[in-house]
Amino acid sequence: MEMGTLPCHLLLLFSCSLSFPLLAVSQLNSKQEFIFNGFNHTNQLLLDGASLIKNSGALKLTNRSKYDMGRAFYKDAFQMIDPANRSAVSSFSTNFVFAIKPQIPGQVDAGGYGLAFVVAPTTEFPGAEAEHYLGLFNSSTDKDPSNHMLVIEFDTVNGYGDDVERVGNHVGVNVNGMNSIKTEPAAYFTANNVKEDMTLERGEPIQAWIEYDAKTKLVNVTISPFNITKPLQPLISVNVAPDDVFIESMFVGFSASTGRNIGSLHYVLGWSFAMNGPAPSLNLSQLPLPPPEKAGSSSLRPEIVALIVSLCAIGLCLLGFFICFTVVRRKMRSQQGHFEDWELDCPHRFLYKDLHAATKGFRESEKIGVGGFGSVYRGVLLANQCEVAVKKIARKEDSMQGMREFVAEVESLGRLRHKNLVNLQGWCKHKNDLLLVYDYIPNGSLYSLLFDRGRLGIVLSWDHRFHILKGIAAGLLYLHEEWEQVVIHRDVKSSNVLIDAEMNARLGDFGLARLYDHSQMSHTTKIVGTLGYIAPELARAGKASKCSDVFAYGIILLEVATGRRPLGSGDFILADWVAECHGSGRILDAVDLKLGSVYAVEEVKLVLQLGLLCSHPSAKSRPTMRHVVRYLNRDDPLPALDVLELASGSRQTHSLDAKFLTVFTLDSSSTWSKSNLSSSVGTFSSGSLRR
Ligand SMILES: *[C@@H]1O[C@H](CO)[C@@H](O)[C@H](O)[C@H]1NC(C)=O
Ligand SMILES: *[C@@H]1O[C@H](CO)[C@@H](O)[C@H](O)[C@H]1NC(C)=O
Ligand SMILES: *[C@@H]1O[C@H](CO)[C@@H](O)[C@H](O)[C@H]1NC(C)=O
Ligand SMILES: *[C@@H]1O[C@H](CO)[C@@H](O)[C@H](O)[C@H]1NC(C)=O
Ligand SMILES: *[C@@H]1O[C@H](CO)[C@@H](O)[C@H](O)[C@H]1NC(C)=O
Ligand SMILES: *[C@@H]1O[C@H](CO)[C@@H](O)[C@H](O)[C@H]1NC(C)=O
Ligand SMILES: *[C@@H]1O[C@H](CO)[C@@H](O)[C@H](O)[C@H]1NC(C)=O
Repeated sequence: MEMGTLPCHLLLLFSCSLSFPLLAVSQLNSKQEFIFNGFNHTNQLLLDGASLIKNSGALKLTNRSKYDMGRAFYKDAFQMIDPANRSAVSSFSTNFVFAIKPQIPGQVDAGGYGLAFVVAPTTEFPGAEAEHYLGLFNSSTDKDPSNHMLVIEFDTVNGYGDDVERVGNHVGVNVNGMNSIKTEPAAYFTANNVKEDMTLERGEPIQAWIEYDAKTKLVNVTISPFNITKPLQPLISVNVAPDDVFIESMFVGFSASTGRNIGSLHYVLGWSFAMNGPAPSLNLSQLPLPPPEKAGSSSLRPEIVALIVSLCAIGLCLLGFFICFTVVRRKMRSQQGHFEDWELDCPHRFLYKDLHAATKGFRESEKIGVGGFGSVYRGVLLANQCEVAVKKIARKEDSMQGMREFVAEVESLGRLRHKNLVNLQGWCKHKNDLLLVYDYIPNGSLYSLLFDRGRLGIVLSWDHRFHILKGIAAGLLYLHEEWEQVVIHRDVKSSNVLIDAEMNARLGDFGLARLYDHSQMSHTTKIVGTLGYIAPELARAGKASKCSDVFAYGIILLEVATGRRPLGSGDFILADWVAECHGSGRILDAVDLKLGSVYAVEEVKLVLQLGLLCSHPSAKSRPTMRHVVRYLNRDDPLPALDVLELASGSRQTHSLDAKFLTVFTLDSSSTWSKSNLSSSVGTFSSGSLRR
């Protein structure tokens, strides 16, 4: 302490005020020291930002808001350098008590960012930022030598910048910025010179002393708990070059800030200051405590604990209610036929209301077809204006098991992707209805191109026909052999082949038969198929296989080449007729007359003969789809057809079976029922036959 210099400087000050205009005097503190044992009713402080003086007399610098800042400076400046003699630098000394109240009582690092004692040429800090800038600097003003600031930080968050020890809970001496020239973890030295750690952010009052000795150019910083008298050894003693910091007149005060997480409350409870002498001692018994509910004083701890306990209890109750509610709701949902987790799989599950809107409420005018399993509607999804075809399948029963299998099936079908398949985009369940959403294919079916448009005089060219047949073969090959599991189509027919804008064949309705089994009739073996395309062994034993798909494909080959339906008026059976033509050596007689002579003879012959081979009455004699593709691509030559077998009456009998006699369904009662088929070429499944 430089006791001797004090009278000298007072004298100096007096002489200044005598010889200089009054204005100059008012910039300097007329008194060389002050003391605030609490800040009751004081008008001596310049408050800025969030800072305010509480009724208790405590100076609060920040609340808990994010990025909050508060500053408080003594209203008058002090003369740090004698204007008449620039090497005459003043010493100063300050003593204060502060408290940093964290967000969560007792938990360190739950708040931030800290507070600082500041010696600065100004009380205004435009552009200053919170967090580690503590409301004093921003990234461009930080470290600026023209700042002329001495900042003693009591930082509760990790060290910043070039801080040697990057620890929270530290004390640092900074010059002109937030980089510390010296930092120490918060601690104090006992009388025996033992270093005791301290926690700054505990809400409890902490005493601090800062001295600057102009002679030794040392800044000493000392802290201690409230009930411990000033330690003899300072925590930090560091040399500060006065030229870097001090100018003639400077203000002293505090600044604090919070950060991006919710911050701490920063309080200063008492403060004394003196130029060129020791700061007056604070009377600790007079100091206000930080507001009790925020100070976490020991008497209130049980209340806080009680509060936390009761909040936890309420939280647990709410959680319990929530769980009960969820369980009950789930149960109700599943009873109502709503969805379980396993149902929430891909492909995309559409909302019923979206499909309802897309199809204008499943209006009759939007219906584009009626198939074996339900009606098909054209729709435009409002979300992306995409055209889709929505197939609506009515189910009769609503068993959970059937539903589960159905969804598994939809999921696997949804993963089928091939350019010659109509891709399944998604699905939806509404009450007992199942809705399948497919790509919309604009050109209609192969059936309508061959027969309906044919009637209008629009002829499908041979090149297109051949291209379409190859496409169907590729799609079937994918289903039979190229996907991860074998998919039997079960309903291959020209009306299930859709033609897209590039005249590619897209096979639709694949796997639906299996879906139908799962969703409704898993305990029943039954025939699904379309008259004219049903293989003999399928009609007899009711067992669909790859071979029965090949049979149906053979019928399509014949259909496309001849332009005739599989079953005609009277007893006309296409396959038999073509077989007869072949047998009599005039197979080209069977070619569609509408083609005129505009076709490749070899290709037409190939298609007709392959059609006969595929629709061979004996399943064993039919080629696989892989062979079919090779024949069509002329990779392999077509094997010679056994004319005798093809032309035999047995063939006719089988076909007649399929057309006129019986299609059997084995229902749950295991009795054979005979269905009378009076309609001509039509689409049906045994499901519709049963009615
Ligand atoms: C905290 O202080 C800021 C001023 O810095 C003020 O805008 C905000 O409303 C205060 N928040 C609370 C909770 O008092
Ligand atoms: C400050 O004011 C509060 C209430 O207004 C009072 O309880 C306290 O004793 C006062 N402190 C001082 C030092 O006057
Ligand atoms: C200026 O101040 C320094 C330090 O206090 C002192 O040593 C020196 O004598 C002073 N010079 C004058 C001219 O007063
Ligand atoms: C920092 O503060 C200064 C002074 O107000 C301002 O000019 C500057 O734009 C600020 N910089 C940043 C990065 O905010
Ligand atoms: C500052 O601390 C040093 C080292 O402990 C000590 O020698 C010096 O006297 C102290 N200065 C003041 C002004 O207390
Ligand atoms: C200071 O207070 C702490 C508890 O707050 C206590 O453990 C310690 O013994 C006290 N020290 C003195 C010197 O009174
Ligand atoms: C501190 O204040 C109390 C109450 O105001 C008073 O009784 C006591 O004498 C004061 N102590 C000192 C050292 O001034």
